[in-house]
This record gives sequence, C-alpha cells and structure tokens, in this order.
Amino acid sequence: MDQFNHQQFPEFPGNMRINDKNHLEIGGVDTISLAEKYATPLYVYDTGLIKSRLNEFKDAFSSYEKATQVAYASKAFSSLALYELLAKESISLDVVSGGELFLAIKAGFPASKIHFHGNNKSHHELVEALNADIGCIVVDNFTELDMINQLTTLHQKQMKVLIRITPGVEAHTHEYITTGQEDSKFGFDLASGQAKEAIELAQSLKYIDLIGLHAHIGSQIFETVGYEVVIERLLQHTVDWKKQFGFDLKVLNVGGGFGIRYTKEDAPLPIKDYAMSIMNSVRKQADNFELELPEIWVEPGRSIVGEAGTTLYTVGTQKMIPNVRKYVSVDGGMADNIRPALYDAKYTGVLANKVYAKYDSTVSIAGKACESGDMLIWDLDLPEIEQGDYLAVLSTGAYGYSMASNYNRLPRPAVVFVEDGIDFLAIRRETYEDFLNLEQSFEIKC
Ligand code: LLP
Repeated sequence: MDQFNHQQFPEFPGNMRINDKNHLEIGGVDTISLAEKYATPLYVYDTGLIKSRLNEFKDAFSSYEKATQVAYASKAFSSLALYELLAKESISLDVVSGGELFLAIKAGFPASKIHFHGNNKSHHELVEALNADIGCIVVDNFTELDMINQLTTLHQKQMKVLIRITPGVEAHTHEYITTGQEDSKFGFDLASGQAKEAIELAQSLKYIDLIGLHAHIGSQIFETVGYEVVIERLLQHTVDWKKQFGFDLKVLNVGGGFGIRYTKEDAPLPIKDYAMSIMNSVRKQADNFELELPEIWVEPGRSIVGEAGTTLYTVGTQKMIPNVRKYVSVDGGMADNIRPALYDAKYTGVLANKVYAKYDSTVSIAGKACESGDMLIWDLDLPEIEQGDYLAVLSTGAYGYSMASNYNRLPRPAVVFVEDGIDFLAIRRETYEDFLNLEQSFEIKC
C-alpha cells in the first residue's frame, strides 16, 4: 500500500476517514457497503457534520446582545428527513417555493420559523404561506407587496415582512463589487429610490407588519468585507428613513453566501469569523448612526450541507487519447450534479475502494449524459483506475441533488444519511416506473 495523496484534499471534512479495508468511511459507515447496498450514483450525507455546522452557526452568534436567527436556505438541499432533522435543531428555515414550504410543513417544521423568499411568488403560494401562518415573507417587488396587502386584508390576518433590498454590493469568493445602480431581478433598488418607496408603502398597510430589511450579496464568499459594506449601507439608509417616516429597523437579515471547501484551492473562513465581523459591523454602525441594535438573521445554505455531501459513482468505460488525456466515465454526471457543466464548478475525488494507493494516474472524469460538456472533474490525480472501482466526489451536498434532473431519462440517485455507524435511506432512487407515474399513453386519448 502506498501513500494517500493528501494534496488531493488536505483533510477530509466532518466524520470521513479511511478504514482498515482502505475504504472511504463516512459517519462510521463503509462507503463501499453503501454502494453495494443502494447502488450508485448515490448521495451520502454526514448528518453529524450537518448538526455540527448548525451548532457552529448558533454558537457563533450567541454573544450578540439581541436575538439572532439562523435560517437554513432549503434550496441548497431539501428532503423530508432533513427538514425533520432541522426541526429538532431549533433553527429557522428559508423556503423559496410552495414545494419547499409543503415539504417543510409535512416534516413538522414549525411554520412560525419559516421565511418565504422568491422574486415571483404566485398568488397560490402566498395563500399557502398565509394559511400555514409562516413566520415572515421577504417581499421582493411591488406586485408582490400589493398581492400580500390584498390577501392579508381579505383574510384580516397580519403578516410579518422583510423588504428585500438590492444593495449594490456583489460578493463572490475573493472579490466584491459595489455598484450604484443595481441591475438584478431580485429586490428593491436603493439608488433609484424604490426601496424607500416600498418601505414607506409597507409601513402604511394595516395588515402588514414591516419588521426589517433583507440583503443577500452572493455565494461562496471567502471575505467579510462585502457583508460589512452592505451593513453600513443599509443602516445609513435606515437613519434617513427613520427621520423621514419613522421606519424602525427591528431585523437585519444579511442572507447567506458563506464559502466552503470544494478543492484544496478553497480556503473558507471559520463560521465564527463571518459571524464576528457581521455582529461587530452592526454594533459599530448602529452606534455610529445612533440606532437601536436590530436582530441579526442569516441564511446559510451551502455552508450547512455542502461539505457534508459526497457522491459515490461506479467507474465504467475508459478512453485513452495518446498525448492528450484519459477519459474515465462514471454512471452519473450532469443529471445528478449540474454544477461543473453550469458554473464550471470544481470538485475533487478519491477512489473510495482504494484510498491509500499510489496516485500515479491523471484522468478526466466524464459523466454519462450525451453532451461533451458533461465533465465532472478535469485532470484528477488518482491511483490506477479500473472498471468497477468506486469514485467518491467530495463536497457535493449543496445544489447537487436539489438541482438534479432526469436528463437522458437517468433516474435521480438515492440519498442516504449516515451517522454513528448507521445508514438511513432518506430519498429512494427514482425508478423507470416513477417516470411512468407522470405519463399518459396517447393510446388512451385515441
Ligand atoms: N439567501 C438567499 C436570498 C439566496 O438567494 C441564497 C442563495 C441563500 C440565502 C443561500 O446562499 P448560500 O449560503 O447557499 O450560498 N445554484 C448555485 C447557488 C445559487 C444560490 C442562490 N441563492 C450554486 O450551485 O452555486
């Protein structure tokens, strides 16, 4: 047995290790036994890691003088079992559709801790939110504000709302950009005065309880400066709005976006560093502008579930092009993880059935969809690879399964939760019969 190439991934996330069979183990469960039991492609979630991330977030904000809320952004990954797990962890939830809301309620997630997002909430979805008595709606535009006003008036029911601001700050990884005029489909623009107008209007509506502001500046952010700039900007405007029409900022929601490690190139900050910077900026700016401290709410998605997820694939065919590269195909790809094809996202992987070995082969991992663009990883160092080996792609827990499709009629993978040596099938694999459930034979009509 040669050595494991730690350059691949300096340290495994969460409860991942190599066992004495030289297999990758997650949450005390051998991934090869999982692949044999449930087949591949298979999403494996380390629920112990999900819980510790949730606790890290809660602890990180615990020193704040006012209340805080950590709302998990469901879009990163949702399932009935995950919502059940989250319900026990006393956190809040961000949903962006009637579908996410439905599943969360079915799982018994407390409606009062659900926040509803989205730039085009339908009338139907707003009725569902109102009927469920959810905690708050993050209002995105004037049409929506009008619809909520009509519905709350009709049902004579109060609804708490945050106004989503497009703050003119965009953060991505190590860069952040401030812009004056914001060109985005989300939220109310500051520069044009729409934000002011929306807040003044919301305040005047009888059944709308305007509790604060929301801004989300981007994803996979490795710096704190973007959050600091947005906090200063929002509190500065709050002073004016307070003077002009008595706006009272009770809640400041700074969204999500906290970065994770996909490959060794990624160096995310500890969660407590993001939290400290956010809390300190709010304290400093509130003091500066002589405002009362607002509650702080955050909406992490990727940073809760991203590193907790691993995808297992079975290695299939290989194609060697002399002096060019070796393609190794696996039994999944863009249908279960669209991120490399859509965003050029980078991942790394290891052979789950022989983790310690000589890493003397450089291969490119291809998906099985009929598209040249269906490549999961380019130029990955691995041990000599054979048909039937198992490839584990790391940190696939966010926006992988949740963005999966049936492209090429590939059934969506199963999702397994592992913890303390126990595995639990959270979502079963889709079957060909599941496809038929939605279909109707044309013969019936004829
Ligand atoms: N809050 C709002 C309002 C958001 O729009 C998002 C993500 C989040 C919170 C959570 O952000 P996170 O902590 O997960 O970065 N599909 C893309 C990511 C899209 C993010 C959309 N909004 C990807 O795969 O990278």
